[in-house]
Amino acid sequence: MANFILRKAEPKDVSDILRLIKALAKFEEMEEQVVLTEKELLEDGFGDHPFYHCVVAEVTQDKQTPDGYTVVGFAMYYFTYDPWIGKLLYLEDFYVMEEFRGYGIGSDILKLLSETAVKTRCSSMHFIVAEWNKPSIEFYKRRGASDLSDEEGWLLYAIEKADLLRISAKKR
Ligand code: ACO
Repeated sequence: MANFILRKAEPKDVSDILRLIKALAKFEEMEEQVVLTEKELLEDGFGDHPFYHCVVAEVTQDKQTPDGYTVVGFAMYYFTYDPWIGKLLYLEDFYVMEEFRGYGIGSDILKLLSETAVKTRCSSMHFIVAEWNKPSIEFYKRRGASDLSDEEGWLLYAIEKADLLRISAKKR
């Protein structure tokens, strides 16, 4: 099974992208937290100032899934900035459907993202991964990834919408 191509996602791919986002969220046992819609994905990723970029892996028709899907993997990423080291490529979501794993699709996606990072003069690729997701952690570590939470002690925080509203509504 080597019949796949990687390509930049197009607007027609948003339903496949959302399906794969949900599949990864399900894998991470957080599927109910996905509230994003195809409309938002379309608006946010394909306008003049895209908030994200996506690479999709597509197999030939003869390898399609029983449900008729040919887009079997994806990576969603964007660029951020670090005041110490400059441009960063942030890998947000990375997923290959289970029956297509182990054929090199994930490695090829990571190679493409590494090429993109080098071409755009990014200093690093950052991502988070669930502590229990050992196969993935090992996959990244075999490719040179280091654990910044462990080495530098960072914790991930978020200020949710309700608090953003509360803070922004506060009188100075
Ligand atoms: N499933 C997974 N890995 C396998 C399998 C299999 N059935 N069979 C063999 N492997 C080994 C491969 O030999 C390879 O080993 P290597 O690291 O020594 O090269 C590695 O596992 C997988 O290599 P690929 O085939 O290139 O990658 P794959 O197409 O399987 O994609 C990925 C890797 C994306 C991590 C995939 O396993 C996956 O979707 N996992 C579940 C979701 C996940 O954990 N995603 C990452 C979350 S973190 C984030 O999103 C930033």
